[in-house]
Amino acid sequence: MGTMASVLLSLLLLLGPAVPQETHTGPYSLSFFYTGLSRPRDGFPSFQATAYLNDQDFFHYDSEDRKAIPSYPWSQMEGIEDWEKESELQKAREDIFMVTLKDIMDYYKDKEGSHTFQGMFGCELQSNKSSGAFWRYAYDGRNFIEFNKEIPAWVPQDPAALNTKQKWEAEEVYVLRAKAYLEEECPAMLRGYLQYGKTYLDRQDPPSVSITSHGTPGETQTLKCRADGFYPREIELHWIQGDDTQETESGGDVLPSGNSAYQSWVVLSVSPQGRASDSYSCRVTHSSLAQPLTVLWQGARAEGSQGAREQ
Ligand SMILES: *[C@@H]1O[C@H](CO)[C@@H](O)[C@H](O)[C@H]1NC(C)=O
Repeated sequence: MGTMASVLLSLLLLLGPAVPQETHTGPYSLSFFYTGLSRPRDGFPSFQATAYLNDQDFFHYDSEDRKAIPSYPWSQMEGIEDWEKESELQKAREDIFMVTLKDIMDYYKDKEGSHTFQGMFGCELQSNKSSGAFWRYAYDGRNFIEFNKEIPAWVPQDPAALNTKQKWEAEEVYVLRAKAYLEEECPAMLRGYLQYGKTYLDRQDPPSVSITSHGTPGETQTLKCRADGFYPREIELHWIQGDDTQETESGGDVLPSGNSAYQSWVVLSVSPQGRASDSYSCRVTHSSLAQPLTVLWQGARAEGSQGAREQ
């Protein structure tokens, strides 16, 4: 009986994410990406910070303006954050960050070199519970030091990082603060932001789908099925020939398409014989669509034309 119950339970867990109302409980994430340059080139600030809510730009900060500037639509949400306070916080973090970069260069006795220091940290909420966090740094593109919140401690990944660890763990309370930041403060901030921006992050923008053909009639042609303007990012695009799903030949990447939306495409090569005997359609599966959208290629009839049609 116990086995049966646990099999049922694990089945329910497996099926869980497919239930529509479950998809809106997250995960949601708040993350920060910092970059420091020891010798910034023309037009580049020595320090830049970008914050994200999920995959959406939240705010930018840099060493030139020294102001946290919210991105649209967060900039329109009165009260979501005290941007003066946020600017002060980022200034303080910039200072610590740039001192650390200088410390590393001193360790390597490299006062004049051109080096990059990157930091990334953030947290995740699933069903309103803290469900993940990370905090790590890289020097010249290589792992440098990482926070392990279970120990808790900074784990060095580079000889120079031993010095950094000593500095950042000089007092026990520093480590406890870092842990509390990831496990409590960051999720609490994210909860606060979600009160304003959850609807925006949960939005469902359906793809507009078009098919174009390229190549000369009478020879092998390529068919391109393109989905544009959709959100969220996850999508599946397939070519269907007759009743068979075709392997994706190329495409399948998902790229930003402006306005915080995404685009993707898949390509299929079709021989003249194939064109005569089979119908081709593009199937698009996306969370905004109640069921997959199937768009038929009208090429067999409209040979050689650059067809585009949605149905
Ligand atoms: C989420 O969790 C926090 C603290 O754990 C609680 O105060 C808040 O009411 C919860 N929100 C929802 C929508 O359940």
